[in-house]
Amino acid sequence: MPLVGIGEIVRAAPAGVGAFNVIQLEHAEAIIAGAHAAGAPVVLQISENAVRYHGALAPIAVACLVAARAADVPVAVHLDHATDRALVEEAVVLGLGSVMFDASALDDAANVAATADVATWCHDRGVWVEAELGEVGGKDGVHAPGVRTKPHEAADYVARTGVDALAVAVGSSHAMTTKDAVLDLDLIAELAAAVPVPLVLHGSSGVPDDTIRSAVRHGMKKINIATHLNKAFTEAIRGQLAEHPSVVDPRTYVRAGREAVAREVTHLLGVLAG
Ligand code: G3H
Ligand code: ZN
Repeated sequence: MPLVGIGEIVRAAPAGVGAFNVIQLEHAEAIIAGAHAAGAPVVLQISENAVRYHGALAPIAVACLVAARAADVPVAVHLDHATDRALVEEAVVLGLGSVMFDASALDDAANVAATADVATWCHDRGVWVEAELGEVGGKDGVHAPGVRTKPHEAADYVARTGVDALAVAVGSSHAMTTKDAVLDLDLIAELAAAVPVPLVLHGSSGVPDDTIRSAVRHGMKKINIATHLNKAFTEAIRGQLAEHPSVVDPRTYVRAGREAVAREVTHLLGVLAG
């Protein structure tokens, strides 16, 4: 199947779009397998942190692009939480169809200026751009679910930057290992009414399934999930190593992790289907 742009997936999706973070090749293989089982399109996303882990973007990005092209469901490959402009440009040159440029740590004026410049550069090359207004907490390990994105500021931000999607702060927080987040569903509805581009929920691993469904019904479109998959991956591997303490071939225990991630992706895509 030809590589698809995230815009096509987001526009075509009748409900929520699953965007899952890839750290290792097995994540990409599992996410695609899970999407195949669900019969749903999916987004593979590579964060700047994952790039730092590998020491470079190209190896994991090219692997994801090749796996995406071989998939029998639509798969987009997206750069996630990029703060480095050079990394954005490298991702575009490598062939990723979309990027999240994350300037949410800057003050709003600097965020607008930097993001508008990146959006223009990317749009000139046919690449879709996501940005963030109202920093969604937890990136530094400090959960800050209290931040809220204001609808009128969001509308103004999208108009001034020209981005194609907006990550908003509505009560979620990154890297939560328990599903305790309480989302401001009324705010999601207000943001969806005020903002002319798809909304993105970050930190979705901390959000209960029913709340994710409600968030999609109220207007959330792209649902970003990483920690939930990492938990499944790690717990499956931990179980294998406990059961087979003398094992040395990583294919045995990493396979278990891969299969666990695929199962979770299928489940979560079912949740997103509404
Ligand atoms: O951008 C990636 C997501 O926001 C990951 O958040 O690990 O809490 O699911 P999560
Ligand atoms: Zn995120």
